[in-house]
Amino acid sequence: MYRYFCVILYTFCVVIDATYGVEVPIFKLLDGRDIPAIALGTWLGNNTQGRVKPEGTEVEEAVKWAIDAGYRHIDTAFVYKVEDQVGRAVNAKLDEGVKREDLFITTKLWNDAHAEDAVVPALRESLRKLNLDYVDLYLIHWPVGQFSNLTYDDTDYVETWRGMVEAKKLGLTKSIGISNFNQKQIDRVIASGLETPSVLQVEINLNLQQPDLLAYCKNKSIVVMGYTPFGSIFPSKARSEAPPPRVEDPALVDIAKKYGKIVPQVVLRYLFELGVIPIPKSLTKLRIEQNLQVFDFQLSQEDHQVLQSYDQGYRTIPQLKWLEHPYYPFKKN
Ligand SMILES: NC(=O)c1ccc[n+]([C@@H]2O[C@H](COP(=O)([O-])OP(=O)(O)OC[C@H]3O[C@@H](n4cnc5c(N)ncnc54)[C@H](OP(=O)(O)O)[C@@H]3O)[C@@H](O)[C@H]2O)c1
Repeated sequence: MYRYFCVILYTFCVVIDATYGVEVPIFKLLDGRDIPAIALGTWLGNNTQGRVKPEGTEVEEAVKWAIDAGYRHIDTAFVYKVEDQVGRAVNAKLDEGVKREDLFITTKLWNDAHAEDAVVPALRESLRKLNLDYVDLYLIHWPVGQFSNLTYDDTDYVETWRGMVEAKKLGLTKSIGISNFNQKQIDRVIASGLETPSVLQVEINLNLQQPDLLAYCKNKSIVVMGYTPFGSIFPSKARSEAPPPRVEDPALVDIAKKYGKIVPQVVLRYLFELGVIPIPKSLTKLRIEQNLQVFDFQLSQEDHQVLQSYDQGYRTIPQLKWLEHPYYPFKKN
């Protein structure tokens, strides 16, 4: 295992100098482009009332802090309803002299635009909100289609993928990928002969490490972005049935102390060493900065064994409302 992550690190990673101090490594995409090895997440999540509604400038501030700290990759989506805030922050930083080509902006196609000819208009709408000419990466958010009246849309995601290829041809996005697809679904996309996705974005954290899917993607040279990287480590976010560990777990605290780090940094570093691009979300300046300080230490083989032992195949985002959809991607229990 230890050898495995070293090989990943040295094969796919080139460290580049960031203008703002922190050295952010990059991975190489199948299409030849570079992708920064950590991204700021911008989904505000759910609370007891449902989706948290954006209030105005909280994400805008966070993205500005992130770019100042050295992040070069921002992950957003149409459905997060914050593309306008991301766009204002990015454009403010461009006005201050950051180069567009040094930033990597990812956004996602929502489930209500799965028809082949709906993809380009959906991306144009995201670009309008972002106030950008192009994004760096456009992902199909889920393989499941759903009309705006919430009934299922059974459009084949391979048709959706055709629309993605067209969006790339038009220069509206530099790279294209998928999110929440399982291995068989990715195989079907590849078998279409259109274009292999450059990126798969899926949930990856201590409780859901998905080694088989990671090995499959490595074999296909598909770069993996890991969402919800903290899983259930924070008690405020963990459901009651979520397996351990929590952030105060003594074994995790011991590992963190050994490197002069904090537990969230150990978690992000572990994902990076698995070859995954973690996408930590935070609206807190200090945490945004802390979450980037993960490229100046390396976990030992023993640490890997401890961290690997928390893999329970436990998913925090099963999206059970789509369980009966023909393209529901996850194992049904
Ligand atoms: N493709 C998909 O279907 C999909 C699904 C889910 C998520 N995503 C992407 O992945 C991103 C991350 O996932 P997520 O938002 O579910 O969860 P997450 O990043 O694992 O966790 C976010 C939570 O952790 C807290 N936090 C962050 N850094 C911390 C630190 N250093 N110390 C203590 N607390 C910290 C944040 O609090 P504060 O904000 O209060 O600091 C927030 O409550 C999303 O924002 C989104 O961009 C994609």
